[in-house]
Amino acid sequence: MRALVFGSLNIDYVYQVPHFVQRGETLASSSFQRFCGGKGLNQAIALARAGMQTWMAGAVGTEGDFLLEELRRAGVNTAHVCRSETPTGHAIIQNSPDGDNCILLYGGANRIISTEMAAEVLADFRAGDLLLVQNEISSLREIMTLAKERGMPVALNPSPMETETLRPLLPLVDVLILNRVEASQLLGRSMDDAEQLLYALSTLCPGAQIALTLGAEGALLYHDGACFRQASFPVKAVDTTGAGDTFTGYLLAGLTEEEPAAALRLASAAAALAVTRPGAAPAIPTREETLRFLSEQSRAEAVI
Ligand code: RIB
Repeated sequence: MRALVFGSLNIDYVYQVPHFVQRGETLASSSFQRFCGGKGLNQAIALARAGMQTWMAGAVGTEGDFLLEELRRAGVNTAHVCRSETPTGHAIIQNSPDGDNCILLYGGANRIISTEMAAEVLADFRAGDLLLVQNEISSLREIMTLAKERGMPVALNPSPMETETLRPLLPLVDVLILNRVEASQLLGRSMDDAEQLLYALSTLCPGAQIALTLGAEGALLYHDGACFRQASFPVKAVDTTGAGDTFTGYLLAGLTEEEPAAALRLASAAAALAVTRPGAAPAIPTREETLRFLSEQSRAEAVI
């Protein structure tokens, strides 16, 4: 199975701040770094590092070449990423001392994706190839519809959440991967019980597999009417940016070859490792690192 990630490529400008800047406040940051990012790029790298044959489709401006190099270094095919006159998308990210973040996005070239471009890219893929999308590019509905018409399973990470745009797309989805806030927004109500939330969500995309990430509380996977739970791994978070993207890529790769519970454990381990490192794309572990981490965890669990 091949994976096509049709998504965003961003330059991430990351500022270390004592707290998120408040309304009317001018705040000094203690450090600044530039990283490769964008939910599309991060998830493509996670899929490739997890071992999937991965293609990326999207658009960058003239200053986005280093994003393509990072993708290629991870083994992602970038033949379907086009160059545009529009500047590359970027994100301004504040990272707080506890590793939490807040993100301001500029779509840039990510928003020039047209129906024609989508049709051209999808013509190179066939039934059984996986499409993975997020909500940082234009023409999302058209891309998903064309993929379904070709017999491709569609995975959606509905982030950033825009309920009005995304809810109507749910019937097209085969795998939905989201966090608790996004799930509540899609449903239009919050529920304390995560399992109930998952079952309620499953009525919006019948037949789909749904993964719900719960931060420190772990993750749940709804698969063929059964619910699997994975506790989070105890790690010291340095930067949580891109942890959800790492989880998404590893889960989808894992589901192609493992039992659901094993895929969920693999994805949770990869995400746990990612939060111990700075940046989004550079923090995504290799499969080897993830398996080593998992066997260390299994040894520690056996001792307890
Ligand atoms: O999920 C993290 C990503 O969200 C960042 O890399 C940033 O570019 C935004 O797209």
